Amino acid sequence: MSRDIDRELDPGFDLFAGIDRLRDELNAVILAHYYQEADIQDVADFVGDSLALSQQAAATDAVVIVFAGVHFMAETAKILSPEKLVLLPDLEAGCSLADGCPPDEFAEFLAHYPGHKVVSYINCSAATKAMSDVICTSSNALKIVESFPEDQPIVFAPDRYLGAYVAKQTGRELVLWPGSCEVHETFSERKLVELKVQHPGAVVTAHPECPDQLLQHADHIGSTSAMLAFARSTPEGEIIVVTEPGILHQMQKENPDKMLIPVPGEEESCNCNECPYMKLNTLEKLYLCMRNRAPEVTVSAELREKALAPIDLMLALSGAAR
Ligand code: 13P
Ligand code: SF4
Repeated sequence: MSRDIDRELDPGFDLFAGIDRLRDELNAVILAHYYQEADIQDVADFVGDSLALSQQAAATDAVVIVFAGVHFMAETAKILSPEKLVLLPDLEAGCSLADGCPPDEFAEFLAHYPGHKVVSYINCSAATKAMSDVICTSSNALKIVESFPEDQPIVFAPDRYLGAYVAKQTGRELVLWPGSCEVHETFSERKLVELKVQHPGAVVTAHPECPDQLLQHADHIGSTSAMLAFARSTPEGEIIVVTEPGILHQMQKENPDKMLIPVPGEEESCNCNECPYMKLNTLEKLYLCMRNRAPEVTVSAELREKALAPIDLMLALSGAAR
């Protein structure tokens, strides 16, 4: 069906103008994660990390949210704004973290840890959120875990690398669900070391979804927005960037005189440092989802109520308004 729709578009069709027209007609706000392709970032009303986008989604007066990101992000936007129509350019845009933590298996896992509080990274499904006490993002994970008394046993899901990083930084023992981001665990440590040798003056910024052996080479570790802030503030002219390379678009715009160096995956020929789910979205699909008011992301009222409480608690603990 989508191919039939694709054929309706003339090759010379001005997607930027079409998206602008529909943005007005629908009273829509377009949100883009930093891992989206450059054109999508440029057409968006807001570009941000998971926490900022979920807050912006909630704060906007728009009638329609077009979420250029992945499914769990659009679902979060729907949970925060149930009255709004939430559109995702490609319904297949999933996430290895969210999809690697099926709710039934997670429920079985949790049954082994009575008395534990459940802290779940926002990169999980609404059903997993509904089983959690509080949600966190990579910007606020340390703060959220530290909000519990030191002797409170905690399960951290679904990212074992982010969980291990939080455990190391906070000195807490965390029970980790064994999930991972297939992109951040693919970066090559060997190539990172080679790049450091080739660029001895460069500083390294890395996302905490990376395994510890990569993080050990980093001068700075943080969420995508923290990585951007670091790139702006460092006096060094060369920055090695260990996250999905979509972020380089904003980083280069903000730092036109700095040299940004992405880290590849182990395989020479692959694009495996790119998130295959994020990159399913295209400018054309963005236009088409607005024109067709579909695909829509929905969450049942019952699930919404259960998933909202731990998100609200995160927003309260991170000092953010809903
Ligand atoms: P942040 O933008 O919150 O750092 O998350 C990174 C990521 O992998 C999103 O899927
Ligand atoms: Fe999920 Fe990793 Fe892609 Fe982020 S980069 S959406 S965590 S698979």
